[in-house]
Amino acid sequence: MSERALFVTKIGVIAATVGSAVGLGNIWRFPYMAGENGGGAFLITYVCCVIILGIPLMCAEFIVGRKARSNASRAFKVLAPKSKWHIIGYFGIISSTLILGYYMVIAGWVVEYIFQALRGNLMAESATQIAANFSDFTSDTWRPLLWVLTLLIINYLIISKGVTKGIEKASNIMMPILFLILLIFCGYTITLPGAGEGLKYLFYPDFSKINGSVILAAMGQAFFSLSIGLGILITYGSYFKDNVSLPKTGLTVALLDMLVAVLAGVMIFPATASFGINPTQGPELIFVTLPNVFKHMIMPDFWAIMFFIFAGVAALTSTISLFEVIIAYFTEEFNMNRKRASIIIMAIIAVLSILSSLSFGVLSDVKLFGMNFFELSDYFSANILLPAGGFLFSIYIGWVMNRKDVYSELGGVNAIYKAILFSIRYIAPISIFLIFLSLTGIFK
Ligand code: PHE
Repeated sequence: MSERALFVTKIGVIAATVGSAVGLGNIWRFPYMAGENGGGAFLITYVCCVIILGIPLMCAEFIVGRKARSNASRAFKVLAPKSKWHIIGYFGIISSTLILGYYMVIAGWVVEYIFQALRGNLMAESATQIAANFSDFTSDTWRPLLWVLTLLIINYLIISKGVTKGIEKASNIMMPILFLILLIFCGYTITLPGAGEGLKYLFYPDFSKINGSVILAAMGQAFFSLSIGLGILITYGSYFKDNVSLPKTGLTVALLDMLVAVLAGVMIFPATASFGINPTQGPELIFVTLPNVFKHMIMPDFWAIMFFIFAGVAALTSTISLFEVIIAYFTEEFNMNRKRASIIIMAIIAVLSILSSLSFGVLSDVKLFGMNFFELSDYFSANILLPAGGFLFSIYIGWVMNRKDVYSELGGVNAIYKAILFSIRYIAPISIFLIFLSLTGIFK
């Protein structure tokens, strides 16, 4: 095998992993999931899922990656030769492809909004008009697809050359700026009249609202947001130097990731309360709420441009990590060069994106299990494939992998190792299993 690259600095490790984790999942998906699943009840369930399942499972993926120093599927061939464990890698590849198919569509919406903001067209007179403009745009057949195509080309330019230092450096600079912008917006939205109602909705848990489907949604969100269950963290872990602490990295990434999600919530919910927008309105939530927020600020277009550019960058660093997992697999398993692999993958993703994008227009009535193609890809990947991947990882690392390898990667037999191992062996598999069971209705 050729010499593998390593992340040079510890900051680089955090930046790259946070770059994958922080994305549309935090800025776009978290607020609408919280809106649809009871606000505070969702938030608290989500935080519990991140701490109890998320951090241990992140560490589990890092352990496999750093020990095997290879891509997601091959890692298991290295660690468990002549077994079928490498099939988990396929889970990751399929889920990544499915996620990219609809993630590109939302990222495309973000680019449209940058474009509209630049032209000064974003702020319609009324909230109703802003919502109407948005649904006109998303139900259009061609325009959203144009942006998907643009994004595929941008991804291609970066990916086909390998993940350049440019992207890493860019995310080093962009991520702190994203935090700063979020903080400024939050400072503004919490002073809006009626903001308290929104904050109460987000932070005050109504425990009676927690049920099987809220827990499933929170768990899916935790997996999605931390990029767990796909083998992305295996791939990244394989680039970590031996002196990087895996638990510390997992904890830092999880905390920063949660912080961005919560800040996005603080940006949205006071504004929905103040402008009388229904927070349960689903995927379009931020695209309708935020222009209303910007409109009331000084220099609205400036803020809109800033916000959507940074959301776009956050999305880009995540799509690149998703692409990498698939590319690494194609190039290594089929001996293909990066360019060729990128083109094949882009074609598959283009087809999925077309179906997702048209789900908001001509295909909106084509449904399976009551969901259109977009909703189905999102639901199926976040709520089924990622947790299933996490489940299998936890079984492998908790019960099959050589215990010495596990503790040597975690810095020896200490309290942290014991806590993580306990979650990976018992809590994670059992709770994922029970949550799945509750889905089938066998168990409530
Ligand atoms: N974690 C990214 C986000 O929150 C999305 C993502 C999911 C990226 C899975 C990679 C893998 O937007």
